Amino acid sequence: MSVHSQTHRITVPEIRAHKHAKPVVVLTCYHAHTARLLDQHVDIMLVGDSLGMVMHGLENTLGVTLEMMITHGKAVMRGSNRALVVVDMPFGTYEESPAIAFRNAARIIQETGATAVKLEGGSRMADTIHYLSERGIPVMAHIGLTPQMVNVRGGFRTTGRTEAEWPALLADAKAVDQAGAFAVVLEGMAEPLAARITAEIAIPTIGIGASAACDGQVLVMEDMLGLNPNPPKFVREYAHLGPVIEAAVEAYASDVRERRFPGTENVYPMKKAQ
Ligand code: KIV
Repeated sequence: MSVHSQTHRITVPEIRAHKHAKPVVVLTCYHAHTARLLDQHVDIMLVGDSLGMVMHGLENTLGVTLEMMITHGKAVMRGSNRALVVVDMPFGTYEESPAIAFRNAARIIQETGATAVKLEGGSRMADTIHYLSERGIPVMAHIGLTPQMVNVRGGFRTTGRTEAEWPALLADAKAVDQAGAFAVVLEGMAEPLAARITAEIAIPTIGIGASAACDGQVLVMEDMLGLNPNPPKFVREYAHLGPVIEAAVEAYASDVRERRFPGTENVYPMKKAQ
């Protein structure tokens, strides 16, 4: 009997082939039920460290641990069999040295079964990206607004709004491309700069609050579903699930208070006597 699954999971070379072609559809995903719903519709599910805020109510991503990423990565893998799954490397697990990054990235890949990791940083992370990808771990890079730098930057600031910032950001994009990243997230970046980076590098750019010229787009799923009371300006809400959930919970609460315990008529009905 074959041990291989019949379903084809999208591969890294297939994502690379989207360069200047059909846009790459990416959404964050942190749990099994939503992974099942997304799987046929997206190319990549990103188990982003934004789960620290979305799932765990943290202020920022700095408190996210490797264990949290592995737990959610496993759940997303169990709920999917088609989309490529990328798991974020959390703050403190990759910056120190390429060898430490490899050890932690290898844990993510081995324990979750995901295909690739994502890490933040451009030129300063190029050696690490090269080290990981040369040793069998595909890396998605992330430049521009990098949320793990929140304390250094003093907030979540859009990048590239003055031309003086452009050379360093262009150099970041080229460095991660040359280091072997298979794609790069451009977050919170001035539109013309994101468009120029997309034109000048060989790997797909995945924009978030960047440019429609990017080779793909990523959003935090809860933002586009209307579950975030304060979504970023660039987010289009495709549904308004917040009020839908509240209305459902209100209806349930009123049923229970009126002693209409929903569904109990179906629980363990008595068997007819023979
Ligand atoms: O953590 C995350 O969800 C991300 C995306 C917003 C790109 O890094």
